[in-house]
Amino acid sequence: MISSSSHFSSLLFLRKLSHTVFVLFRMQGRWHLSRSMFSEYQKLAKEALPKMYYDFYAGGAEDEYSLKENVEAFHRITFRPRVLVDVSRVDLSTTILGYNISSPIMIAPTAYHKLANPEGEIATARAAAACNTIMVLSFMSTCTVEEVASSCNAVRFFQLYVYKRRDVAALLVQRAERNGYKALVLTVDVPRLGRREADIKNKMISVQLKNFDGLLSTKVANDKGSNLEALANEKFDASLSWEDLAWLRSITNLPILIKGILTGDDAIKAVEVGVSGIVVSNHGARQLDYSPATISVLEEVVHAVRGKIPVLFDGGIRRGTDVFKALALGAQAVLVGRPVIFGLAAKGEYGVKRVIDMLKDELELTMALSGCPSLKDITRSHVRTEREQLHSML
Ligand SMILES: Cc1cc2nc3c(=O)[nH]c(=O)nc-3n(C[C@H](O)[C@H](O)[C@H](O)COP(=O)(O)O)c2cc1C
Repeated sequence: MISSSSHFSSLLFLRKLSHTVFVLFRMQGRWHLSRSMFSEYQKLAKEALPKMYYDFYAGGAEDEYSLKENVEAFHRITFRPRVLVDVSRVDLSTTILGYNISSPIMIAPTAYHKLANPEGEIATARAAAACNTIMVLSFMSTCTVEEVASSCNAVRFFQLYVYKRRDVAALLVQRAERNGYKALVLTVDVPRLGRREADIKNKMISVQLKNFDGLLSTKVANDKGSNLEALANEKFDASLSWEDLAWLRSITNLPILIKGILTGDDAIKAVEVGVSGIVVSNHGARQLDYSPATISVLEEVVHAVRGKIPVLFDGGIRRGTDVFKALALGAQAVLVGRPVIFGLAAKGEYGVKRVIDMLKDELELTMALSGCPSLKDITRSHVRTEREQLHSML
């Protein structure tokens, strides 16, 4: 029998050894990230970025309760794997709004990529093309709609915020349409910006965005707190409502998805106003703190929609197992935010590609070990939620 003290010293030895290997690889410029460690990318991003930018990317609203929950709620879902299924080939490919992609893992819209890497959204879009997936370009992108369009042949959607100046939103929609973006993703959870306390303390900057050159200024300078918050509260149209979907439809022929749905009630309204899809999202827990972990409300939304439109999902995806769980609970695909940004900050275009490839590899393995050779084989009965686990104990 091994004594606890010798067990402890072997653990200590292993820790030291792994640290030495880590340092040696880095010193020799041969440092390769463990493919299974999202946290390593996060660590590298933290080392690479000024504190203000890192906090902006990593942080959430207020107590960051939802930020933790988005990730931890996945840990409470377990698998019901099936065996003796032929998984000698596993197919991850799928179709979103008619576009074939290599896996159900897409790139979420996130602001300000040039703060993470000088190539900004162009690097992200090229990685999307290399992975054959869809990138949703943020309305708050640091590269223009045109620059991103001409830099790669990835299928691109355009995310829209509606400014008080509706003409600006309309112009951006037309530019996106003209430049081959295939859908609009209307983000509906930002009537005002959430209270992001790190950004307030750091006096987070707002960047002049080239998309708006000649239209309006997106730079705000005040020394009271987050300039980004000041910008959003000055420009965003807090009166946006369900009625405005008719206006949006009148200015574009693109399919419209709504991002930021968290309840079955709103999902039903989205179907009624005729949108082409929903993204279940709490904005990466950056808006309303104590909103539920998105994975915990996905099924409610899926039931409400009754298969009439596709339901996409984001929030807290860090592993291929998380992707599998979201698909089993009814999502057609997932979007990833922070993992992509950390990949971009750590290693540019290559880093984004590695992050997506890592998630794809993990998803493929999860499918093989769960007895699912294709995405359609993933069913509700492949997972057990926390509630089901509690029921089974009664
Ligand atoms: C730094 C950052 C910036 C974001 N910017 C936008 C944005 O411009 N538009 C938008 O609709 N969502 C934005 N989001 C939310 C993401 O689209 C997505 O909902 C969220 O990141 C998913 O959670 P995850 O980061 O855990 O993957 C942003 C998220 C982060 C982390």
